[in-house]
Amino acid sequence: MSGASAETRAQVEHLRDLINRHNYLYYVLDAPEITDAEYDELLHRLETLEREHPELVTPDSPTQRVGAAPSEKFATVKHRLPMLSLANAMNADEMREFDQRVRRMLKVSGDIEYVAEVKFDGLAVELVYENGMLVVGSTRGDGVNGEDVTANIRTIKSVPLRLMAARAVRVPSLLEVRGEVILPRKAFVRLNEERLARGEAPFANPRNAAAGSLRQLDPRVTSRRPLDVFCHSPGVIEGAGFSTQWDFLEGIKTLGLKVNPLSRLCPSVSAVFDYWAELAERRHELDYDADGVVAKVNSFELQERLGEVSRSPRWAVAYKFKAQQAHTKIRKISVSVGRTGTLTPVADLEPVRLAGVTISSASLHNFDEIQRKDIREGDTILLERAGDVIPYVVRVTHKGSPRAKPFTVEHCPECGGSIAHEEGEVAYVCINVNCPARVRESIRHFASKACFDIEGLGDKLVAQLVEKKLVRELADLYLLKPEKLAALERMGELSSRNLIANIERSRSVTLDRLINALGIPHVGEHTARQLALEFGSLDELRSADEGRLRQVRDIGPEIAHSILAYFAEPRNRAGLERLLEHIVIKPLEAPAKVSAAVRGKTFVLTGALERMTRAEAERKILAAGGKVSSSVSGKTDYVVAGSEPGSKLDRARELGVTVLSEADLLSMIEG
Ligand code: IVH
Repeated sequence: MSGASAETRAQVEHLRDLINRHNYLYYVLDAPEITDAEYDELLHRLETLEREHPELVTPDSPTQRVGAAPSEKFATVKHRLPMLSLANAMNADEMREFDQRVRRMLKVSGDIEYVAEVKFDGLAVELVYENGMLVVGSTRGDGVNGEDVTANIRTIKSVPLRLMAARAVRVPSLLEVRGEVILPRKAFVRLNEERLARGEAPFANPRNAAAGSLRQLDPRVTSRRPLDVFCHSPGVIEGAGFSTQWDFLEGIKTLGLKVNPLSRLCPSVSAVFDYWAELAERRHELDYDADGVVAKVNSFELQERLGEVSRSPRWAVAYKFKAQQAHTKIRKISVSVGRTGTLTPVADLEPVRLAGVTISSASLHNFDEIQRKDIREGDTILLERAGDVIPYVVRVTHKGSPRAKPFTVEHCPECGGSIAHEEGEVAYVCINVNCPARVRESIRHFASKACFDIEGLGDKLVAQLVEKKLVRELADLYLLKPEKLAALERMGELSSRNLIANIERSRSVTLDRLINALGIPHVGEHTARQLALEFGSLDELRSADEGRLRQVRDIGPEIAHSILAYFAEPRNRAGLERLLEHIVIKPLEAPAKVSAAVRGKTFVLTGALERMTRAEAERKILAAGGKVSSSVSGKTDYVVAGSEPGSKLDRARELGVTVLSEADLLSMIEG
């Protein structure tokens, strides 16, 4: 027999349910009830229990999203039903023709009911659930055979590993759903910044980034890309029936699958036109790329009657948006220097309106790209907004005359120092660690919200502090004198006093924020928190070897090496020591304090609580080292009764279990 007691098993189950629920709230409904730190805490607890009792690990556990080892190549999956593509309607006339054809073929004179949906510009996938368990995830491939990317699909947090049991819809014995995997624009921007900082080529747009991420041979890499999915159409379904597209969308939503909330049931084609116009107007507000609207005949019976032609259904059409492009001239090419010294060329443009905003500069990403596209000062270029966010130079459309010389960079534009270009890397890097630009960027990062959160220390001020040599490294912030500050541009006595007060306040910081603030390449907010939870102190982290670092969730060789390299560098070590003289590290924000009265005790909650939700109460108990169970038994230590308690309270009385009020519970936790 294995070592895990029934209680531990129940505890593990309970944590999984809780984590799955919070996952669903966060990733599918976009309505989190707990903070990221609290979520990480729960996951960390589950991981610890599973590490102690490996026999309890199941494939659908939320810790097992990244389970599989990297593969050499993807296996082929045959789709039970071919994955079709969509015919396009490029303008209103073509959209009208589509509707007329549908009515003609169906011999209907009245209106056709459509479902109008966003046309996502992502990567088509198929998810296969057998008896509620995710068994296969595949790409579209050629429509008949796709690639088996199950291990990667499992890392997408909005894809349930197990369907939710729902009242209205039974879990079908077989459910195939098709959907689109996307990379949200914000994540795309961040990913490209990180890639540039590492000297890697950026992705051209979110679609390519999503495709590149999903087709990674190492699922750990995929897991670090915050991919998302929208499910939009059925494959083979057994053991459940839907009669319309709208029912299908509603049905899979109750099973926990993510569907897009913007889909709309349209009683006629004119409602589809309205939807298209509204969405075209609002598309820039979305956090994902949409390149049109998909109109689908709602009734599955009518869909069947319409059938398909040349691999496209006759019952659906993609009504495309107009492309968002503009032409403008490059006035000048300049170079900016990042925190790690990476040089990024930027095109200063003649201002031009594109997709709702005026654009006057565009990143040229790296010097290889300038060369490849032969972009020079004075050229006229075609501009697009990649992911409708970032302006992006597609190509030169008109050469300047006379033509400028090809753009080159020999010295750091900020400090005039040497630059390095490593073999095989695209980035050029300023190697001077005291380069004012590098110092400026690292201070900006240090003061930002997710790090030391120093209010009032904005970009302009940081630039002045560095320029005036008042700050040369992080520790210098804590040596600033109000008189010196007050002498700076746009700084009065009052604002300098306020700033000093804010800097003072920042001295006390949690470990996760400190780790993030150091600016270790590849270590962002999330990884910093994992490290803080796992190591608990800076000394533990500093002395960890590669093997120990790799035990932390999501940390692969690349991040581990980066952390080791950071702490191996004498200058970083000395700078950190100087910083530590000015700050105190306080416990993590999540209430990780274990209470002696609560530790190891099993609680059952019943009735409505007043000062917190049930979920909050459960979390507090777990965080304090207690356990939560859903039914009262001989093993129950305490029943917490709110108002209108259920039969659990009767059972507690029968068994002589101690009954607590909400206030009792809180004082026990607070110790
Ligand atoms: S339904 C046969 N709905 O567009 C119809 N597809 O050009 C099956 N796409 O490969 C697709 N958004 O991956 C449908 N709301 C949506 C969509 C959508 C994007 C993709 C889909 C398909 C491609 C066809």
